[in-house]
Amino acid sequence: DKGNYRHFMLKEIYEQPIVVAQTLRSYLRPLEEQVALPQMDFDLSAIERVVIVACGTASYVGMIGKYWIESMARLPVEVDVASEFRYRDPVLTGKVLGVVVSQSGETADTLAALRHMKASGVTTAGIINVPTSSMAREVDLLLPTHAGPEIGVASTKAFTCQLAVMAALAVNLARAKGKLSASEERDIVHNLTEAPAAINAALMRDEAIQGMAHVIAAARDVLYLGRGPEFPMALEGALKLKEISYIHAEGYASGEMKHGPIALIDDQVPLIVLAPAGPLFEKTVSNMHEAMARGAKVVLISDAEGLAEAGDDAMATIEMPKVHPLIAPLVYAVPVQLLAYHVAVLKGTDVDQPRNLAKSVTVE
Ligand code: F6R
Repeated sequence: DKGNYRHFMLKEIYEQPIVVAQTLRSYLRPLEEQVALPQMDFDLSAIERVVIVACGTASYVGMIGKYWIESMARLPVEVDVASEFRYRDPVLTGKVLGVVVSQSGETADTLAALRHMKASGVTTAGIINVPTSSMAREVDLLLPTHAGPEIGVASTKAFTCQLAVMAALAVNLARAKGKLSASEERDIVHNLTEAPAAINAALMRDEAIQGMAHVIAAARDVLYLGRGPEFPMALEGALKLKEISYIHAEGYASGEMKHGPIALIDDQVPLIVLAPAGPLFEKTVSNMHEAMARGAKVVLISDAEGLAEAGDDAMATIEMPKVHPLIAPLVYAVPVQLLAYHVAVLKGTDVDQPRNLAKSVTVE
């Protein structure tokens, strides 16, 4: 039931504060000020390396997880799309934690990758939304998301719930590895607790986002830029726009612009920049200015501090709440989802059932 919403996708975007809170509830122990995982029968502190495998949007959760786990737990992390991983004869020696991320728990390539890891003696965990799915039954440790049924083919609420669980996994690995103090964990618990309200604040920008959708809808190509965890978010923004509006879009790491993609820039190519204020903000602004000098129409998505620092040369800005870097991806997901949605509505595409796509890809 779509309720008062025109599409399932929009309803599911708006459900995010609730379902992320619901998901976090099973991972946060507010009284102990700790982030907990379900019972497991292996020793997390023995893990030496993490390998994350998924497809599409779920693979971007893996890429964001790499930034988090490497910086917090100091463990090496490898991320691969399942269709490559399962056929490339990956090296899985040592104490590896293999992590699959999947909304459906049935994606053929991810399931095959999971079975390949298990057959190689790897301990596995799965961030999965459907608890009765094949993957949920086969992983050693099920890390459920509680997004509820996701009907829109384009993943939205499952994605932010997967990020919330990935953050919980990163925190637990960090603690197990002795890299996280009790006070750091307390701070993280507080920030994760604020995530649903921050997502809600991002949803309040819907009208502004809708107001600029016509510029994107008129474009043939759109580029998305981000650094750090916002780089996978740029990939996610581009994928979301492609799949529901059929506009060609690409995401790049901001620093890669001048290594090729800048050749595409002219006054016909909108550039969406995802950049919360922080140590690398200035570098991203300089990448943005290089593109503007070539005529690019820039939409800058940042917080008040970032928007003030960048000045007012962007064609449009979308202000996000100022949040802890760990929850920024959960918040910055919202404007990229809404932008793709409103552009698709303007283009008159079938938002919930885009052409050529299936909700669950159970064949290769
Ligand atoms: C994009 C999208 C797909 C899925 C991918 C994996 O919006 O929905 O890229 O993320 O097909 O599906 P699951 O998570 O079910 O394994």
